[in-house]
Amino acid sequence: MVGILYESEEWSSYKLLEEIQSFGIEACLISLEEDHAFELVNSCDLLVSRIFASAQFRAHHKSLERMPEVIKQAECKGIPILNPPRAHFYETSKALSTAILKQKGIAVPDVYGVFLPNEIDPGSLRYPCIIKPDCGGRTTCTVIISEAEALAGAVAEIPAVSMIAEEYIRPVYGYITRVEVIGGECRLILKRSVTADGLSAYHLGSAYTHYTDCPEKLRQTAVRAMELLNIEFGSLDIIETERDFYIIDVNAVSNASEDNTEMFGFDLMGETAAYIAERFREMEKRNDDDKRNI
Ligand SMILES: Nc1ncnc2c1ncn2[C@@H]1O[C@H](COP(=O)(O)OP(=O)(O)OP(=O)(O)O)[C@@H](O)[C@H]1O
Ligand SMILES: [Mg+2]
Repeated sequence: MVGILYESEEWSSYKLLEEIQSFGIEACLISLEEDHAFELVNSCDLLVSRIFASAQFRAHHKSLERMPEVIKQAECKGIPILNPPRAHFYETSKALSTAILKQKGIAVPDVYGVFLPNEIDPGSLRYPCIIKPDCGGRTTCTVIISEAEALAGAVAEIPAVSMIAEEYIRPVYGYITRVEVIGGECRLILKRSVTADGLSAYHLGSAYTHYTDCPEKLRQTAVRAMELLNIEFGSLDIIETERDFYIIDVNAVSNASEDNTEMFGFDLMGETAAYIAERFREMEKRNDDDKRNI
């Protein structure tokens, strides 16, 4: 049985479930908002995490709080998790994933610190900078701060969650590069336009185009970054400049909405399910081989 750990009632998790089942594999959804989640976990042979960092903005704190416990329990019982457990901690801390990438020599924005909104000292930042929730997604509470004087007004609107303040990388070419990596391969590379407020996101109305001539170095760096972070399937957001390209965000839980498949000409949930199914079959085979050898 494959158990999909989820917290958000959205199309993508149900689609992933159906696609895994379409390979003839038994699968179920396990909501980490529910108290009986821990029992259900025990009945699985493989877990798949769809616990988004953005859970904290859906009042799904329980799922985020329970995840480390679920990981421990799964490790105890020998139940593997995809993405591997470490990836969850990168999904839920931009500061952590950025620090690891920097340490490994991958270009990332300079990080000025992680603060509560009312504790950010305007003097500790360089401008323009960007502030965004350390554990967040979907551009919630993400603001570009052009100068020290603008900081107080911007943070007044933000709830008391941990914020990362970092260098603003100007997207001089007018797009952000979104790379979907599955099993160590760049499977989809898109240019996502930057909107009038300087941010880029599907829900803000960004337009997407296929990035057919994406530089090889960027592809290789995307794959390497995912390897370093133990993310077998997920996405990266990258800003290219004349000087270099910078990884500004890494997601260990990728998402798509129903209309994206046609729009991108790529079925992200279907392809992710195919990868999970392959990993599940390999696991079954290994277990069978082990039994035969006993
Ligand atoms: N350092 C940066 N420099 C310039 N723009 C940035 C930077 N960090 C974030 N942005 C802008 O803010 C948007 C959201 O930031 P980011 O991708 O880190 O957060 P997210 O909310 O996790 O997004 P997603 O849900 O797509 O993963 C980016 O698409 C980009 O437009
Ligand atoms: Mg993200």
